[in-house]
Amino acid sequence: MNFRETLKINEKGHLSIGGADCVDLVREFGSPLYVYDEAHIRNMMRIYRETIEEEYGGNGLVLYASKAFSCEAMYAIAKSERIGADVVSGGELYTAMQAGFPAKDICMHGNNKLPQEISYALDCGVGLIVVDAYSEADRIEAEAEKRGAIQDVLIRINPGVEAHTHAYVQTATPDSKFGFPIAGGEAEKIAAYVLTKKHLRLLGYHCHIGSQIFEKQSFVLAAEKCLKFAADVKKTLNFAPHVLNFGGGFGVWYTDADEKIPVEGYRTYLSALISAVKKACAEYHLELPRLLIEPGRSIVAEAGITLYTVGAIKEIPGIRKYIAIDGGMFENPRFCLYRSKYTAMLANRATEPCTERVSLAGKCCESGDLIGDDFNLPAARLGDIVAVLTTGAYNYSMASNYNRNLIPPAVLVHEGKAEYIVRPQTYEDLVRADVIPARLK
Ligand code: LLP
Repeated sequence: MNFRETLKINEKGHLSIGGADCVDLVREFGSPLYVYDEAHIRNMMRIYRETIEEEYGGNGLVLYASKAFSCEAMYAIAKSERIGADVVSGGELYTAMQAGFPAKDICMHGNNKLPQEISYALDCGVGLIVVDAYSEADRIEAEAEKRGAIQDVLIRINPGVEAHTHAYVQTATPDSKFGFPIAGGEAEKIAAYVLTKKHLRLLGYHCHIGSQIFEKQSFVLAAEKCLKFAADVKKTLNFAPHVLNFGGGFGVWYTDADEKIPVEGYRTYLSALISAVKKACAEYHLELPRLLIEPGRSIVAEAGITLYTVGAIKEIPGIRKYIAIDGGMFENPRFCLYRSKYTAMLANRATEPCTERVSLAGKCCESGDLIGDDFNLPAARLGDIVAVLTTGAYNYSMASNYNRNLIPPAVLVHEGKAEYIVRPQTYEDLVRADVIPARLK
């Protein structure tokens, strides 16, 4: 069980998060409910920021990868922790702007940024745009020229390191919709192209090798490859990077098959990356670039849990037992999409031993709609509160209104008190954009 500071069992035998009793939370806010512990989010942001300060002379910036969980409060927390943000759409950028986030600390990604997204990014004054296509370089150039501006950009390169949870694969000819492969010279060609643009200032390179990675060596290898590339480009194009952005990807605990890394332990990932950058820069006689990283999952995943109420129980003798909860793939599609594993518990009976192996079924009209199919729980009863742990990343952000279910609200717990950071949807919200053409009336 993941009993960091975030999750505890209180004197009533209830699960608590950030000091708030989960049974009380459901009583007050209903279910399903996304709950976030603010302290854990802040601790994670700080550990990355401090590591850059202490081990890299502060010559860098942590960018919270807001795709993991984007809402105004998250940008407000990131801002108060003096970190930046990465955004991948006009919508994420708009949310950050609404939260008063400084545009100069935003890095914008995407393999197909829409014309209106590029134009909006320039209007906002976004600090960095990561170029991921020739046509995009042209478009940013045109928009910057219109404004008499010069836009700082990075190029997304693909170092050919494919990282998996506990392993990495080196691919000579990487196949990805993201980035330009170093191998074969594509990355160098786009660098040469961007350097011809008068309204683009090429600052360096970006790469992101994958997500939910525990293997430090993957990041080290990516850094080595990027710096070797940087050294080659310095020779051929006389351009040396001022900025290197290594993306995100640090792994988190979902089940006991995963490592349980203490907050302080995340320092070692960044330390390994920093050492590799320093070593390669010395070897290739490059100045130390400004270092950017983009952790998303590791900042919010373990800070979040989802609370549900058991509404139906069905046993198919000899086959399996379904515990049906009031959520499902509309608020956590990760089992359906990736067969992701989670740990669950009964929040109102948190000290009772697990006696059953069950599937947690959602309420969508689809037999594959499960949160998972192998949870160990005490024998659940109607009305019990199920907590699924480590749901802070890529759950709310990937939620939908499938079956016209309402996307659950999110609350943030601070010193034992919870407040909405995303209010509940209503049925009116569902039909707000609907139109019946006159001829159908
Ligand atoms: N930077 C870039 C360019 C990325 O593409 C990503 C994640 C990140 C940073 C943040 O990576 P993290 O630290 O969160 O691993 N929906 C999937 C995850 C997709 C990740 C996409 N890119 C899931 O639910 O597991």
